[in-house]
Amino acid sequence: MRDKVTVPAIKARKHTTKLTMVTAYDAPMARIVDEAGIDMILVGDSVATTVLGRPDTLSATIEIMIHHSAAVAQAQPRSLIVTDMPWLSYHISTEETIRNAGRLVREGKAEAVKLEGGRKRLPMIEALLAAEIPVMGHLGLTPQSVHAMGGYRVQGKELEGARELLKDAMALAEAGVFALVLEGIPDVLAQIITQEIAIPTIGIGAGPHCDGQVLVFHDILGLTTNHLPKFVRQYAQLAEIATQALKQYSADVQAGTFPADSETYHTHKEVARTLKSQFIDQPTDPEV
Ligand code: KIV
Repeated sequence: MRDKVTVPAIKARKHTTKLTMVTAYDAPMARIVDEAGIDMILVGDSVATTVLGRPDTLSATIEIMIHHSAAVAQAQPRSLIVTDMPWLSYHISTEETIRNAGRLVREGKAEAVKLEGGRKRLPMIEALLAAEIPVMGHLGLTPQSVHAMGGYRVQGKELEGARELLKDAMALAEAGVFALVLEGIPDVLAQIITQEIAIPTIGIGAGPHCDGQVLVFHDILGLTTNHLPKFVRQYAQLAEIATQALKQYSADVQAGTFPADSETYHTHKEVARTLKSQFIDQPTDPEV
């Protein structure tokens, strides 16, 4: 049986075996991810797009994140539960940041929180760490900055941007984040950051040199019909399988072959006979 995955155990995996993280937003998904031996479950604010059908992650609220994090925790996974801090839940003040992260831990049963951004987030990160809340960083193509970036664009392609991202990564690692997601950056920059910092990097669209990889549940399993970014590898087409299964169910209902006798409850023979004779077997008298 696998031991519970902890924050120190994740940190200790630097320079050892690769880390895996997959998103999950409810208990059945968390069970599937855990059963597969994935190290970390990310209750991502991607819940807003993948589950709630919204165009971006900006409308995710702390209530939504608590709701889904608590659902994931119900599965009692061995995987570490990392829950995203949604946009504006950690931007206003350190007090509000601690209060919101505290709710994710206390009500959402998160075991660590993730937040997006570099050096400008340091006061919030330091406050969270002082409150004993482990923090995972997230740099590069940070979806909560979609408007500031002018779309979902690969970051750090030019020298200046790459240098700034390296400085951000070093500052976050220095501050004490336990791991760092690198999203949508060139492979060489991810390789350099991974080499330069003492904590594990977890890549998504950042090439093969990171200490681990993360993908979204619906993307890996083919549960979405949306356009998939180039970095996604689909390991199954579950949406197709599900549609076929539901078509077959519908056909069985129409044909009267569902439910079968074995899928039906029965009462005692005598009760059934009496009920039938009173209500089914006797033709209704048109005069009455
Ligand atoms: O919300 C999310 O799913 C994420 C991953 C893309 C890293 O932050």
